[in-house]
Amino acid sequence: MPVINRIADYTPDMTAWRRHLHTIPELMFDCHQTAAFVVERLREFGITDIHEGIATSGVVAIIEGQGDGPTVGLRADMDALPMQEETGLPYASTIDGMMHACGHDGHTTMLLGAARYLAETRNFSGRVALIFQPAEENGGGGEVMVNEGILDTFDISQVYALHNAPGTPVGHFYTEPGPIMAAADDFHIHITGKGGHGAMPHETADPVVAALGIANAIQTIVSRNNYSQDNLVVSITQIHTGSADNIVPDKAYLNGTVRTFDRAVQGMVIARLEGIVAGQAASYGVEAELIYNVGYPATINDADKTRFAADVAREIAGDDGVNANAGPEMGAEDFAFLLENRPGSYLFVGNGETAGLHHPEFDFDDETAAAGASFFARLVERAQPIAE
Ligand code: NI
Repeated sequence: MPVINRIADYTPDMTAWRRHLHTIPELMFDCHQTAAFVVERLREFGITDIHEGIATSGVVAIIEGQGDGPTVGLRADMDALPMQEETGLPYASTIDGMMHACGHDGHTTMLLGAARYLAETRNFSGRVALIFQPAEENGGGGEVMVNEGILDTFDISQVYALHNAPGTPVGHFYTEPGPIMAAADDFHIHITGKGGHGAMPHETADPVVAALGIANAIQTIVSRNNYSQDNLVVSITQIHTGSADNIVPDKAYLNGTVRTFDRAVQGMVIARLEGIVAGQAASYGVEAELIYNVGYPATINDADKTRFAADVAREIAGDDGVNANAGPEMGAEDFAFLLENRPGSYLFVGNGETAGLHHPEFDFDDETAAAGASFFARLVERAQPIAE
């Protein structure tokens, strides 16, 4: 079976919703306009149990099925990115410096499509909790929603989410049982030396050379300290220092990101960064301070729920359209916070040959929405069938 016929019928509506959302990107926790649009649609579908203002602008809405049963949580992210759109599309962002470059407009639309169908048909037992969250890209909106108690308040027993995937055929799915997305931390190193004339370096304690030494030594964490079978990325992504060709500056700054799947590996990286920063600083005669910020944890799919979700995806995309063992990726995802607290699964749905995520020419493919909405709808019907 491909997409659910009734959901295919929604495609013109879903396309209109998605393109409208694309014109009004919002950042971080400030997804108020998007949330208002979501709530308007949910009310049109006859859904009345709607809870707004969770994690500032998040929404949880409940659809009652037929008869008692547990509650399955379906989550979509709503936030956009602080970047300038370069698609030239008629429905391009109307807001300077903000853009839906990760397709969260599409994720919101897919969940709305599923909500409409589930509210119309109610061919399931128990309840569905529709979770529309802000601040996925940054800020940990998922964590805030969990901390505000949504999983307990709405008695959610399992959770699922979809992300679009450029480069995978439209409507195909992939996932991975176990770790699927990495933990993402960042670090900042502040180096303080003694500046002076560029022609008299012997009178300075040069923070530029110290920064280069530290940056090079950090490369050995992956190559020399990490067990080769453990996934790890340590990247220096920024170096800031200096103001003129003939001045040795006082200060230099290094920033970077660390991606891990394992707390022990993360601990090793922190210890090695501390050792390298202190040792290198001493050797160059400068002061250096390491600031390490622990970010989103690894996204760990439940193996059983992932097998089940992949089976549902096969209903939509066929056996050849689903890769249930796609391996982990080094990106991060704050659905991790929901999966830390409830079993469930995170899957990708193909977006076709588009520009990559976070690229100024990226656009969600509206053909993807029917596949994603069908997946969510069938997942609920199969997870919580009506008792005979
Ligand atoms: Ni995203």
